[in-house]
Amino acid sequence: MANEDYIIRPAEIEDLHQVMRINQKTLPENYPYSFFVELLKKFPKSFLVAEKNGEVLGYMMNRIEKGLPGVFTSHFRANKGHIVSIAVLPEHRRKGIGKRLMIEGMKAMKEYGAEEFVLEVRITNEPALAMYKSLGFEVVREIKGYYHDGESAYLMSRKAEDIQIS
Ligand code: ACO
Ligand code: ZN
Repeated sequence: MANEDYIIRPAEIEDLHQVMRINQKTLPENYPYSFFVELLKKFPKSFLVAEKNGEVLGYMMNRIEKGLPGVFTSHFRANKGHIVSIAVLPEHRRKGIGKRLMIEGMKAMKEYGAEEFVLEVRITNEPALAMYKSLGFEVVREIKGYYHDGESAYLMSRKAEDIQIS
């Protein structure tokens, strides 16, 4: 999975302090250490980091959710791959890292049985919205006042069908 000078690989417990630092630096939605540990323990294959010489440049963490019907999967108890959080360090953006994290993360979630991928994103987050649209995500609906500061989110979704697992 190497590409030029960084690799995409499953996260390890030792990476979590760097992952948390990136999360705190780049997003207003932060979580306690225990939350990162829980996601890593439950879904180790789909918690990914981009790493270069020991430095974590970006991460993506996900959760498989069984529950209410999804957008593309109307049957009850559809497996949804929820993209909980993704971020890349500012000085390493626009090099394709975010997109590669997304693609590898979606493959891993599909291996866990995800039939559809879902995420929430701030309606003003142009870079993330552009990235998700370029990966085939569509806006399902707006969730008014989703964030603690009152900003709304777009719920976005994408089928897992055409994601190839090697
Ligand atoms: N403006 C316009 N389009 C953009 C931008 C931008 N600033 N950034 C990315 N894109 C689009 C482009 O289509 C781009 O393809 P291109 O470079 O060939 O034109 C495509 O997304 C993929 O770009 P990448 O280089 O793969 O993305 P990057 O590594 O820069 O990471 C990310 C994108 C993760 C959104 C980054 O900007 C970031 O960390 N932002 C802050 C954290 C954040 O907002 N995370 C998402 C929150 S929502 C959630 O976590 C579910
Ligand atoms: Zn979410």
